[in-house]
Amino acid sequence: MRHLISAADLTRDDAVLILDTTEEMARVSDRPIKKLPALRGRTICNLFFEDSTRTRISFEAAEKRLSADVINFAAKGSSVSKGESLKDTAQTLEAMGVDAVVIRHSASGAPYRLATSGWIDAPVINAGDGTHQHPTQALLDAFTMRRRLVGEDALGQDLTGKRITLVGDVLHSRVARSNVDLLHTLGADVTLVAPPTLLPVGVEHWTCDVSYDLDAVLLKSDAVMMLRVQRERMNAAFFPTEREYSRRYGLDGERMAKMPEHGIVMHPGPMVRGMEITAEVADSDRCTVVEQVANGVHTRMAVLYLLLGGNEPAVSHARPTDS
Ligand code: CP
Repeated sequence: MRHLISAADLTRDDAVLILDTTEEMARVSDRPIKKLPALRGRTICNLFFEDSTRTRISFEAAEKRLSADVINFAAKGSSVSKGESLKDTAQTLEAMGVDAVVIRHSASGAPYRLATSGWIDAPVINAGDGTHQHPTQALLDAFTMRRRLVGEDALGQDLTGKRITLVGDVLHSRVARSNVDLLHTLGADVTLVAPPTLLPVGVEHWTCDVSYDLDAVLLKSDAVMMLRVQRERMNAAFFPTEREYSRRYGLDGERMAKMPEHGIVMHPGPMVRGMEITAEVADSDRCTVVEQVANGVHTRMAVLYLLLGGNEPAVSHARPTDS
């Protein structure tokens, strides 16, 4: 694999290899010296045309832990405001010696275009495009689920039989699309719960079930992922009132108590507290939000290593000596 554009492009073996490599990276990150030399001498550009906290910073942390040189590009304050195109921006950066591009863009398909147009030669990693895909988010979520629901010694294993529920604004969610694709590939049973107005046309063809009864589905969920309500992508006319939304699709302590005892609560962030998730739930021991963020660094290290590591030794052999 040369690029990472969509979770749907990953086979089960690809995905398990990334999860296993993430486990190795997590173990490296637990050491006093967190750095690996794997990408020394390589330059990676983080090309962000849309706002981000978690993805942008965790890619940068991952790149630095792999000893890459990092260039951060934000569209705000760049020559994009003067009308420069994606093609010219990318070619400008490649001319400065960029070896790989991590891109977030509000237009669905922008990373695919960059990877397949021939504009640049560098590998492209999708850090979220429009409402389309966010593959590294799905990978870090799957890693978090595997660690919590299967165990830390789950190398080689997938999520077969695990029951995962995604709740909320599926229509605008690249996280939902990526998770449905990847979780299905990993053998999980996925159910979407959402207001009918926040489900996309054609959802019946997705590899998951759809329900409108959150309380019933929670009873048998090993993990529930609350999705952010993306008002910025929404026509207000189609949105239920905040109170109505929270009552039917929000997660509070009383609802969370219906889950099996081992069940976990996830959220890709940023959370809208009080809307899709109460503070009581967000701050509870069952909520993995902060763990997901930490796992995001390990996951992005694994993806970068596998895509760009080239002839460097395998991660397990590249660990620094204990010190
Ligand atoms: N989960 C996620 O993509 O968060 P950011 O928008 O902060 O990167």
